[in-house]
Parts: sequence; structure tokens; C-alpha cells
Amino acid sequence: NNRKLWGGRFSEKTDLVLESLNASISYDKRMWKEDLKGSRAYTVALLRAGLLTEDESKEILKGLDMVHEEWEKNTFIILPSDEDIHTANERRLKELIGHSALKLHTGRSRNDQVVTDMRLWLRSGLGDFSVLLCDIIKLCTVRAQQEIDILMPGYTHLQRAQPVRWSHWLLSYCWSLKADHDRLKQLSERINVLPLGSGAIAGNPFLIDRQFLADELDFQHVSSNSMHAVGDRDFIVEFLFWASLTSIHLSRLAEDLILFSSQEFGFVTLSEAYSTGSSLMPQKRNPDSLEIIRGTAGKIYGHCTGVMMILKGLPSTYNKDLQEDKVAMFAVFDCLKAILQVAGGVINTLQVKNFNCRAALSPDMLATDVAYYLVKKGVSFREAHHLAGEVVAKAEQDRVTVSNLPLNTLRDISNFFEDDINEIWNYESSVEQYQVKGGTSRSSVTLQISELLQWHDNI
Ligand code: ARG
Repeated sequence: NNRKLWGGRFSEKTDLVLESLNASISYDKRMWKEDLKGSRAYTVALLRAGLLTEDESKEILKGLDMVHEEWEKNTFIILPSDEDIHTANERRLKELIGHSALKLHTGRSRNDQVVTDMRLWLRSGLGDFSVLLCDIIKLCTVRAQQEIDILMPGYTHLQRAQPVRWSHWLLSYCWSLKADHDRLKQLSERINVLPLGSGAIAGNPFLIDRQFLADELDFQHVSSNSMHAVGDRDFIVEFLFWASLTSIHLSRLAEDLILFSSQEFGFVTLSEAYSTGSSLMPQKRNPDSLEIIRGTAGKIYGHCTGVMMILKGLPSTYNKDLQEDKVAMFAVFDCLKAILQVAGGVINTLQVKNFNCRAALSPDMLATDVAYYLVKKGVSFREAHHLAGEVVAKAEQDRVTVSNLPLNTLRDISNFFEDDINEIWNYESSVEQYQVKGGTSRSSVTLQISELLQWHDNI
């Protein structure tokens, strides 16, 4: 026990099961670089505060570089007594440089150290998400541009609603993901606050220059309350929530594509790289990639709610329960990154079946157009809606498609029907009515494409 950094007041050994539960080194070693970076800055701050001599600080910095090299070369040996990344690095530093290593932790606590490491780690990792999101958005936008001619049924309640452009559907996900990208930027700003210098709870008594630390570690702000700084995990929850929301979007996209790739829809074919077969049924081509996206999204929400559960009953400042936050942070980071990569690959290699999309359109999807026809003849929309409903019911009753009802039958329903009603039975012109910004006409979809491409260029 005396080997433990906190072993001074202890004489009994820690229970072995507790010891292994208490150790976080197996996963928090991922922050080795951030931990060393924080220590380097802290060393210089200690020197500037007069707590280290020039020689001591040089020795510590040199030692930290050596530890760095060991991690980088994969020669760092984790000992069973290393509880977490902070204790492991400090233990090794002492082995390498001896006595001066013992001054590094002056005024610092693992409580302010761990959140500093996490904020640094997350901040640098978020750039990957920005790139992945931008790539998917670009991919979908370029596809939308190339495949703008393709029409397909749009669904509400999973019932055929109105004809739309395939591109319009595809772009709908771009806007969700673009909003995720915006939110990512905002959340990065809130991560960018320096907790170091908060000590265990009360602050730092050695006149450490926290603004200097912030500048060294490239933090935009310095935390204002030490108790808040060591106990606050809002930035983790925010990241987990953000990842949950982003994965909701990926999961809904996956769900659409799972349906669209079924034989009943037949709108798309997944590439073989993103499909798998069945060990029993030779004909199967299963959309496992999309199901993995959907399933992983569930796992991500689980981690998000898990951390919120941990936080809700905690008394203020640091409690060991908080150690679990890193399990969630790393797992969610990896999961989201993987499903973003898979989603990009799926979209990139997906084949859209133009013919099937169009063949799935049916004249009943133009019932709204019948109502709009009557509106243009001067009928109020409510009446027109009712009359169009009668037209649909009549077609159902006579077992014909609405477009095949003879004019005189239509005129029995309303005198406003004339020969030109036949002009509405055209999916292309139906779609072209929606010229409004945000609509599914060619010009409106083209506007979306240029907005997104411009956004992408300015990122
Ligand atoms: N491994 C710990 C964690 O991740 C570091 C902080 C420990 N602080 C303490 N006072 N025990 O939360």
C-alpha cells in the first residue's frame, strides 16, 4: 500500500476485488498524451510560481518527454499498482528522474487533472466527427445532384403520401446532419474550459497562473469555480447527448434504407461490401450494416442515460462514481465514429433503382393534386379536400384507379371537373408544383444542393 500515491495514512491492504474495480488504467490510458501535456504545462506554471527551480523543471520536462516516448513506442509497462493514467505517469516519472518528480503534483489533484485530460482528449477527438459528418453530407449532396430526376413515393405514417424526388429524401438527412455539425461546434466551445488549478475542491494555494495554463493548453476560458470545475460533467453528458442525437439521425436513415432495400420496396440495393448472407438461406442478402447502425445507436443512448443516472444523485464535487464517465466517453466515441464510417460507405456504394422507385408511384398519391385542381377552379380547400375524398372513395368502390374514373363520374361529384383534369395525372408535374423554398421541385432541390455545397466549401 505504501507504493500507492495516497498510501501514507494507510496500513492495511486494499481488498483485491475492490482494487481491480477501482482501477481505471485499463481504459483511461487512452489519455496518456493529454495527461503528459497537462503535466508539462503544470511544471512550467510551478516554475513560474517559484515552486520549482530551473533545474528541477528541466528535469521534470525531460522526464515527461521520456515517459511520452515510452507510450509512443509502446514500451511503457503498466504495473498492477498503477491505479489510473495519472498515477501511472507519475510513478514512471519518479522511476526515471527520481526525487524532483515528487514536486510535480504540488497543489494539483487528480480531480482537476482528470477533467483537464478529458477535456483535452475530447476536444481533439471531435475534429474526426466534423470531418466524417462533412464527408457524408457532401456524399449525399453530390448524389442528390446526380440523381435529381428520380421520383419516388414520399411516406407519412409509412403510407404512400405524395410523390417526391429521391434527392429530396436524401437531402432531408443532410439537413439533420448539418444541424448536428452546428451543434458539435457549439459543444466544442463549452468543452474548451480549463479546470486545472482547481485542486481537489478548494482551488490552488500556490498562486499558479491559471491564465498561463489556459494559454499553454490552448483553452479558451478558465473555469470560475473550483468546486464546479472538479464535479461538473456537463461536457460529457452534452457529448453523449450529441452523439445520441446524431446516431438517431443515422439510425432513422438506416431504417429507411432497410425498408427501401427489402424486396417489397426494391428502391435500393446495398453493395456487397455492406451486406451479409445467411448461413441457412442461400438467397439472402441482409442489410447488416444498417442494422448495426440502428443497434449501435441504442447502445449509445444507453451510455448517455447511464452517465445521467450516475450524476443525478451525486453530492457536489468529485465522487468516485464519476470514474465511469470515461467508459461511456470512449465507448460512445468509438461507436459513433464507426457507424458514421459505415453510413458513409453504405451511401457511397448504394445503388438506387430508378425504375422501381417510379413504378411504386400510384395515382392515388395524386389525390391532393385533385383537391388543388379544384382549388384552382375556385373551390375552397376544405370543400375541395372533401370532394377529392369522394373521388378516391368512388374509385375504390368501382375498383379502378382514380386516374381512370371517367369525366362524367367525376362531374357527378363536382361540376368543377373538366377535361383538363387529365393533366394532373403526371408525377413529374405534380412534383414541380412545389417550387417554394424547401419544396421538392427541381429548382427547390437545386437550391438546397447549392446551399449545402456552399456550406461545405466554407467549413
Ligand atoms: N481515475 C479517477 C477518475 O477517473 C481519477 C480521479 C481520482 N480522484 C480521486 N480523488 N480518487 O475519476
